[in-house]
Amino acid sequence: MTNKTILVTGAAGFIGFSLINYLYEHNFDYTIIGIDNLNDYYDVNLKLNRIKILKKYSNFSFLKMDISNKQDLDDLFKEFNFDIVINLAAQAGVRYSISNPDAYIQSNVIGFYNILECVRHTSSVKHLIYASSSSIYGNNQKVPYSEKDKTSKPVSLYAASKLTNEQFAYAYCKLYGIPCTGLRFFTAYGPYGRPDMAYFSFTNKMLRNEQITLFNNGDMYRDFTYIDDVCITISKIICSNVKLNEDNLPYQVYNIGNHHPENLRDFYNTIGECLLKHQMILKIPEPKYLPMQPGDVYQTYADTEKLENDFEFCPKTSLKDGIEKFIVWYKQYYLK
Ligand SMILES: NC(=O)c1ccc[n+]([C@@H]2O[C@H](COP(=O)([O-])OP(=O)(O)OC[C@H]3O[C@@H](n4cnc5c(N)ncnc54)[C@H](O)[C@@H]3O)[C@@H](O)[C@H]2O)c1
Repeated sequence: MTNKTILVTGAAGFIGFSLINYLYEHNFDYTIIGIDNLNDYYDVNLKLNRIKILKKYSNFSFLKMDISNKQDLDDLFKEFNFDIVINLAAQAGVRYSISNPDAYIQSNVIGFYNILECVRHTSSVKHLIYASSSSIYGNNQKVPYSEKDKTSKPVSLYAASKLTNEQFAYAYCKLYGIPCTGLRFFTAYGPYGRPDMAYFSFTNKMLRNEQITLFNNGDMYRDFTYIDDVCITISKIICSNVKLNEDNLPYQVYNIGNHHPENLRDFYNTIGECLLKHQMILKIPEPKYLPMQPGDVYQTYADTEKLENDFEFCPKTSLKDGIEKFIVWYKQYYLK
């Protein structure tokens, strides 16, 4: 697919930046408009540096914009005839949603509603792709988590906001025939990643020889997805038409995960061993064990059969290989 105009919201964010960079590095001939409000939930310089990298591509433009501002979005949709809209802008993070609920309603609920309304009133958009999250599965007892599982029991406001996105998208697809694909990401990680996430903050703390807390006494499991696998998956979704679902609607959701949950203690040691290998620390610090935190889930585990069936691809990068790439980037970015 060439000469398409794509809107990516959250373009200064980890996945938005990585996706745009991946598409241009792999010669996808798109005009991409990236928007982001550049909020300070984490290091704004990292966001600005991501945008600086993207600005080297002549088909890329960046605009500082908030998706919760309906007028600004309306004007943007009048100026450009987007073929595809990829909504990645959101207030991320489960724990932050306990203390800062407003941000989730503003960006994830009102912001997403504004995107839907703009798409609804535009005839050019052929596909709305949006970020959901593995957190919508709540404390699902059945593993692996399948797209067919019931998802009505979110355990955080963040998860509830993402579940709302899926439901809003379904309603707009049903009412107005907007083809929609929801991406249920399972802990994406890698170079230029998010400093608020465990792999990043564990690395920071190990380098400072600070003690790290492992919740639920380290007895938790996460399905980690390397960022390149995430980008490949989204690029395949961009290039295809949305398959009709069981209600004959162009509406789909996909798990984007590795189908391989990792124990938190093993994850901790994988980071430590990688830092040792690169001679960045002298020993792996002893973690501190604490009980489960409100909003956390015991495990995430993606069933990737649907993704594999529809796109002949599913994420496979091992945690060891992915963490190695992250640490190499970290050393180059922060320690040179
Ligand atoms: N990274 C993961 O593991 C993961 C897992 C599940 C879901 N997700 C979802 O994927 C999407 C991208 O995540 P990410 O890891 O890149 O997060 P990120 O925080 O790095 O990126 C989100 C970007 O959106 C921007 N943003 C926030 N609110 C905005 C608003 N109102 N208007 C405009 N921009 C706004 C932020 O400034 C940020 O740059 C998010 O929707 C997130 O909830 C990510």
